[in-house]
Amino acid sequence: MGFKALWLSYGEFAIVDPALTATMPASLTVNTGLDVFSHAFEAYTSLASNPMADVVCEKIMAEVFQWLPVAKEEPSNQAARQRMSVAASLGGWMLSSGCAHVGHSLAHVLGAKFHLPHGLVCSYTLPVTIETVAPVLPEKVKYVGNILGVDFPENVSPEEIGRLTAEAYRAFRDRLMDGKSCEFPIDESNIHALAQEVCQEAFAPLTPVKVDEELAVKMLREIR
Ligand SMILES: [Fe+2]
Repeated sequence: MGFKALWLSYGEFAIVDPALTATMPASLTVNTGLDVFSHAFEAYTSLASNPMADVVCEKIMAEVFQWLPVAKEEPSNQAARQRMSVAASLGGWMLSSGCAHVGHSLAHVLGAKFHLPHGLVCSYTLPVTIETVAPVLPEKVKYVGNILGVDFPENVSPEEIGRLTAEAYRAFRDRLMDGKSCEFPIDESNIHALAQEVCQEAFAPLTPVKVDEELAVKMLREIR
């Protein structure tokens, strides 16, 4: 299977020293930090998710929401760099447990095609991924929405949980990006070829809904 090769490519050791991240530019801090959030959300909602990984993923997302803005605004804040280094390391660990799914499939295809930073693209493919999985995993997505500060109305529908959580995530991302936005040159000339690549990407089968060309096209249209 596609992701078997990924299992074999993992590193055996990592040197995690927050002091080495203090001089990272703000854009690199933000892009990599948002990738951590994506790893946690996707591991939390993939077909490979499991109760032990879920607890770790919940904490990772809360840590990123609290500490990434601090790490960006105060680059030499050692507490923030340490919390983000731990969250990033745990996010990498979750890749070998809950794995990832269609958010990363979309990001791998678009990042390679348009030569954009991985974490940046992940931050744009995550909101539509949130909306896509909310109908099948409403309680999990609601938990993520709560981390992001959403106050859900009573009897909220799964679709509304997805919409509100995606909007809260976009607001969090856009604050970190200082209002800059990323455009993807997706149109009728390339969308079906991109969608086919997304369907064939290694993580796509771990999405909690079937990723076929129709869904991939819909998701590509709704990236923002
Ligand atoms: Fe990633």
